Order: sequence, then structure tokens, then C-alpha cells
Amino acid sequence: MFGRIDHIGVAVEDLNAAIALYEQSFEMTLAHRETVEDQGVEAVLLDVGEGHVELLAPLGPDTAVGKFLARKGKGLHHVAYAVDDIDATLEQLTAAGIELIDAKPRVGIRESRVAFLHPRSTGGVLTEIVEPAGGH
Ligand code: CO
Repeated sequence: MFGRIDHIGVAVEDLNAAIALYEQSFEMTLAHRETVEDQGVEAVLLDVGEGHVELLAPLGPDTAVGKFLARKGKGLHHVAYAVDDIDATLEQLTAAGIELIDAKPRVGIRESRVAFLHPRSTGGVLTEIVEPAGGH
């Protein structure tokens, strides 16, 4: 069902400080930076092998990531798996009894299509599936 790990999402308070850590200490290359209004974040992708680290800074305290930071503090936020056909995968997951946060895909970073699965039904791991732009 899942092709590979597309990225891991990390919630950060200070985006530039986090970028410096990943660029300078981990020698990752910054690939993309974007404000995703729909998700209430400023997001950055850094390359690591075929996958990415996605750094997420909230646009405000009332956003999903803002609330996460207030509740749990900075750190690992979600894991994202790449899929070829997100619509078909969402149907499969629904049939398997997985609780969806997004019943329908929405636009994610770099014009991907994404949907989140509720951690209640994924063993406590906020899980994203992503169909990269041009992936299907
Ligand atoms: Co993500």
C-alpha cells in the first residue's frame, strides 16, 4: 500500500534555527520552503536520500501545529508515506477501519495531495499519506 517513507514531519518553534541545525550539523540540503495556509504552517523540506525531513513552524497558536507545540513541545510530529493513488488508498484504509482526519485529500506542500490518519487508529502515530505532484 505504501511505497516508501516520503518524509518525517518535525514541529519546530524557530524555523531558521531548525534549518541551521539540519543544514549545518546534519549536512542536509534545503530543497523547498513554502507557507501552506491550509495547514497553518510555514514548512521546509530538506533532502535526505530519497526522502525528506519536513520542518513545520505554526503560523499561529490556534493552528494544528501551534496546538501540538503547546501540548507536547517541539519534536517529532508525523510520518508520511508515499502512495501512487491517494484516493484508492483512502478507500482501502477506510475499508480497513482506519479513522481518517481527512476524508478527502487536500493540497499539501509542493502541490502534493495529502491526507492525515488519526493517531487513535494508528497506534499513536500521526500518519500522513502523500501522493506527490505528478505521481498519479
Ligand atoms: Co507532512
